[in-house]
Amino acid sequence: MTHAAAEAPPRNHRAEFPIFTHATYLNSCSLGALSHRARARVNEHLDQWETRGASAWYDAWWGALADLRARYARIVGAPAGSVALHPNISTALTAIAESLDYTRRPKVIVTSLDFPTVAYQWLAKSAQGVETVIVESPDGISVPPELVARAIDDRTLLVATSHVFFTSGAIQDVRALADAAHRRGALLLVDGYQAAGQVPVDVTALDVDFYCAGGLKWLLGGTGVAFLYVRPELLPTLSPRAAGWFSHREQFRFDPRALALHDDARRLEAGTPALTPVYAQLGGLEILEELGAESVRAMTMELTEDLIEQARAAGLRPKVAATPDERTGIVMLPSDDPARDVRRLADASIICDARPGHVRVSPYFYNLRDDGRAAIERLTRGR
Ligand SMILES: Cc1ncc(COP(=O)(O)O)c(C=O)c1O
Repeated sequence: MTHAAAEAPPRNHRAEFPIFTHATYLNSCSLGALSHRARARVNEHLDQWETRGASAWYDAWWGALADLRARYARIVGAPAGSVALHPNISTALTAIAESLDYTRRPKVIVTSLDFPTVAYQWLAKSAQGVETVIVESPDGISVPPELVARAIDDRTLLVATSHVFFTSGAIQDVRALADAAHRRGALLLVDGYQAAGQVPVDVTALDVDFYCAGGLKWLLGGTGVAFLYVRPELLPTLSPRAAGWFSHREQFRFDPRALALHDDARRLEAGTPALTPVYAQLGGLEILEELGAESVRAMTMELTEDLIEQARAAGLRPKVAATPDERTGIVMLPSDDPARDVRRLADASIICDARPGHVRVSPYFYNLRDDGRAAIERLTRGR
C-alpha cells in the first residue's frame, strides 16, 4: 500500500447506494442496487443528449462504447478486442448459437440448473437437427463436472452452462469443464451472469471459449447492457448467420452490397446500443474497479457465511453448496410459502425474492451483517 493510499480515508461504499436509507436490500442476484455514480453517469449522458444532440455520437458516445468494451474485458481478464456488447444474455447467446456449424457435431450439453434461456437457444434449433442434452443435478445444488464430462462425446459441439448457478449460488469448476470439453474437441460457453462482479473471473485462466455476463446483477449496471467474450483464436472461425451494421468493419460507408465483418468481437454485435444502460454500467464498474474483485469476493463471502450461520442457528436449513469456497451471495432458505414470506419481509422493508420452495436472500459487499440478521429474524418470528 502506498503512503497516500494509507492516509486516504476509506470510502464508504454503502453510502453510494441510496436504497439503504430506507430499505434492507438483499436481492442483488436479481438486480444490483443503483449507485449515485451510476445515476451521475446517466445524467451526464442525458445532459449531452439535451445540449449536443446527435453531435455527441462522434466523440462522447462512441468513446463510451469503446470504454465499456475495454472495461468489461478487464473485469474478466480478457484481451482487448475479444468482447462484444449486447443488450442481454439471451441475445449474446443467440450470437453464438447463430455462429456455430452443427453439421458434424449436432449435440449441445446444458445442465438442469442453468438459467433456462441457455437451453432455449438450442432447443429453438431442434427442427434444424440440433440435439440439446440436459445433464441433471443429483441434489438441486450443483452438477458434478464428471457427469458433464461423461455426457460429452465426439458428436458434442458445445457445453453451455453457468459459472454460478442462479438456483443455488454454487460455483462450478469451469476449468474442469473446459478441460473435459476440449479433450473431446468440443467448446465451452459459460453464462457468468451470476458470477462476474461477485467472483473474480479470468477467462484466460479458465480456458473458456465463450463467456457472457452483464450489468443487471453483480456488475451494478442495471438493465439493458451485457457482453460476450470470445476466445480470440475462435473469432475468424465463426460464421455469423446474424449481423447488423455494427458488425460491419466500415459501417459508415453505408454499403448494402457487401458485408465485411470486423476482425474483432464486434463482428458479433448488431445494432445501436442503448446508451442509458451503457452509462449506468460505466458508473457501476467504477465502484467495483475501485474495490477490486478480490475484496468484493471477500466481503461478500463473509456476509454469506454469516447469513448461513444465522439461518442455521435459527433452525432454517439453507440449500447451499457444501463448502464456503463453492458458495456465493445467493442463499436459498426453504419455505412452504415463499411468496407470503417475501411479502412479510417487504412489510419490514426487507427486499428478497421468492423462488419455488425457497426465499432467496442475496447479500453483496454493500450489505451489513445486521441486514442478514434482520431478514432471518423476520422470517422466523412467531414460528
Ligand atoms: C444466470 C442467468 N442467466 C441469464 C439470465 C437472464 O438472461 P437475459 O439477460 O437474457 O434476460 C438470468 C437472470 O436474469 C440469470 O440469472
